[in-house]
Amino acid sequence: MSHHHAHADPGEFDENAAERLKWNDAMLLGHGPTDHAHQEFVHVVKALAACNAVTALGCLQAVEAHLLSHFESERQWMVQTDYPNMDCHLDEHQKVLDTVLEVNRLAKAGQVGLRDVRRLAAALADWFPKHATYLDSALSAWITKRRHGGAPVILRRDIRTGVQQESIFA
Ligand SMILES: [Fe+2]
Ligand SMILES: [Fe+2]
Repeated sequence: MSHHHAHADPGEFDENAAERLKWNDAMLLGHGPTDHAHQEFVHVVKALAACNAVTALGCLQAVEAHLLSHFESERQWMVQTDYPNMDCHLDEHQKVLDTVLEVNRLAKAGQVGLRDVRRLAAALADWFPKHATYLDSALSAWITKRRHGGAPVILRRDIRTGVQQESIFA
């Protein structure tokens, strides 16, 4: 690996990443639909990490369906906004998707154990924050700039009042 791009390489990830993965407002990137997809990512990956023998197949299916929709949305936003250097970003999506499709295929054939499923959840949880920080944040800023001619406005909830406040500070 020659640069910062994260890969869902089963050889190198934090086995406890799924326990550490938790949604918080610091993960907001300022483009609403991206933030919504990312919240959903955290939800389905945490559910996968917590699955049991009965729920594993359903949780894997939920992750696959989520990623197909999440990645396709980002691809469409790139096309719609003439995003430069789509290839690198889409490459990362494809690698992650290939891994999930393969595990799902093997799971349906009864060839995957709970330990493998939890390793996949950890690999996804380890990969996601890096991908969001380096690639999705750049895309999110680009989309917002294209649409509004300015930097993204991040909405954060005020902890004391629960009211959404605007801040230009990410
Ligand atoms: Fe994303
Ligand atoms: Fe992405």
